[in-house]
Amino acid sequence: MHQLFATRAARMKASEIRELLKLLDQPGIISFAGGIPDPALFPAEAFAQAFQQALGADSRAQALQYSASEGYMPLREWIAGHMRKIGIDCGPDDVLITSGSQQALDYLGKLFLSPGDTALVGWPTYLGALAAFNAYEPRFDRLREGGNVGAAQYRAAAGLGAVKYAYLSPDFANPTGETVDRQGREALLDLAEELDCALIEDGAYQALRYDGQAIPPILALELARKGDLQACRTIYCGSFSKTLSPGLRMGWVVAARPVIAQLVLMKQAADLHSATINQMAVHQVAQTCFDSHIPKVRATYRARRDAMLAALERHMPEGVQWTRPEGGMFIWLTLPPGADGAQLLARALETVKVAFVPGQAFHPDSSGANTIRLSFSNSDEATIAEGIARLGTVLRG
Ligand SMILES: Cc1ncc(COP(=O)(O)O)c(C=O)c1O
Repeated sequence: MHQLFATRAARMKASEIRELLKLLDQPGIISFAGGIPDPALFPAEAFAQAFQQALGADSRAQALQYSASEGYMPLREWIAGHMRKIGIDCGPDDVLITSGSQQALDYLGKLFLSPGDTALVGWPTYLGALAAFNAYEPRFDRLREGGNVGAAQYRAAAGLGAVKYAYLSPDFANPTGETVDRQGREALLDLAEELDCALIEDGAYQALRYDGQAIPPILALELARKGDLQACRTIYCGSFSKTLSPGLRMGWVVAARPVIAQLVLMKQAADLHSATINQMAVHQVAQTCFDSHIPKVRATYRARRDAMLAALERHMPEGVQWTRPEGGMFIWLTLPPGADGAQLLARALETVKVAFVPGQAFHPDSSGANTIRLSFSNSDEATIAEGIARLGTVLRG
């Protein structure tokens, strides 16, 4: 049968690491692998009430019915208000609801990439973005922040295809936890102008800042330059997954109308719309408790990040370096040259029952063998201290 598959299918391979990590949900393993929220932080009671209300006599006909591809209007209005609070002046018609921000990444690949076109991505970058874009048979090139590579070089390297967009998560990126400063964001906008390409701003972790000054989203900076969302080339992807719940699959896109209109057509063709009842429930919960809930999420993850940083300081041998994220869920370790994250994982699992994700998978060119990603979001402080101590023994051994 596989000879019948389209050429794109050959590029879509199960990652060995993902397969391995599936086996990790066993007692006794301390896992820093999955970048998932702590379920204890889900506003579960608020969701129970919201679903009950949506299924009440007054709204069940709507909740269980088909609905608009653009999304549930009250939720789009809430999101527009949320975006305005972070500096992006927009209205509900500038918002498309997606089934998680992952769906937005898939649609944006579909919208922009013809085979051979170039997508600029961080090295490393979010694995799910690579997987989503990869299906559209692009060429990946390394987005180098700091401006030492100019538009002409990117264009020359792109060959016959065009550079269609740069993708990045400027706040507390997955997998590095790093944040792009304001100057870096402005430089990216300059580069996008020069390249005449789109900029995909992935705001999945934007709300999870634990300290330091908030930096305006790239779309906010572009809006400040241009004064009109319709003139902007930045496409903002947001998500409720890291703040309220990933299981409901609720994300959104804010962009200029022609982009939104085309994405709406894609959504119609792909899944008609995101689940009506989930949109109603998320709207209800966002409206009643987003602002009071987020500080709790931040406080919990801040303490876990601090615990992991302190444990790394105590237990890592000479030659290991790590990021100090101001938010998000991840710390990125660089081991001495020649070390191999995948081999380390095998050893750590076998000898001390600690899991993490080797960094190679986040690099389109399979570089980064000596890097690993640790997530601090789903373990309490004592477990983090114990897990990092164990990891230290493997690294020294
Ligand atoms: C950087 C980044 N973007 C997007 C996503 C997708 O999230 P969702 O589809 O749940 O919104 C994730 C999930 O881990 C992520 O880390």
